[in-house]
Amino acid sequence: MNEVLKTIRSRYTARKFTGEAVSIEDLRAVAEAGNAAPSAYNKQQWQLVVVTNQELSAELEAEGLEDLKNNAATRASYERIMSRGGRLFYGAPAIVIVAIPETDDENSVSSPVRDCGIVVENMALAAHSLGLGNCICGLAGVPFASERAQYFKEKLGLKDGWTFGISLLLGAADLSHESGRPRLRELDSSKITYV
Ligand SMILES: Cc1cc2nc3c(=O)[nH]c(=O)nc-3n(C[C@H](O)[C@H](O)[C@H](O)COP(=O)(O)O)c2cc1C
Repeated sequence: MNEVLKTIRSRYTARKFTGEAVSIEDLRAVAEAGNAAPSAYNKQQWQLVVVTNQELSAELEAEGLEDLKNNAATRASYERIMSRGGRLFYGAPAIVIVAIPETDDENSVSSPVRDCGIVVENMALAAHSLGLGNCICGLAGVPFASERAQYFKEKLGLKDGWTFGISLLLGAADLSHESGRPRLRELDSSKITYV
């Protein structure tokens, strides 16, 4: 297996971080890998915001947990997070937020929603190749659908009409804890057919 295939196969979601800061070089390398993603019609409709401000991420985390708790549809996610230690961001010292233009047409071939998934996977693989624990985090978007959405958009410096697309939590994985340790997911080969 070549290095790229090894990185793809060994990537895993880390859900416990030591809290140790990520170097600026590594943050740059991860963000640049995201920025190098392909996009439909080469539109590159994304803005990557690297958040290391602990006050801001704590505010996002608190708002996200509160919203998950108060919404019947997300209550199960809230309970699962509470049973895992009550941290939406698992103690990650850095979050890269992939912001995208608001869209009503998520199914369009050139939807920024589609592109931002590719951006975040590029970043997850780059992070893993650098030895950084990482977790693709959709739930970090909850505060951007709350009453304080505008407050958070301004804090992140998002342009008008832009919003959260997806995010990546980053940091040193806590290897002393099961949730931080590498694991190999079983692959279901029946999901691949050859015609
Ligand atoms: C679009 C997307 C959103 C996700 N959001 C979250 C999240 O909010 N919180 C979380 O703990 N994991 C999240 N995950 C991680 C998945 O749960 C994880 O990828 C899946 O369980 C497979 O595990 P693996 O990544 O270790 O192979 C997300 C993954 C994707 C692709």
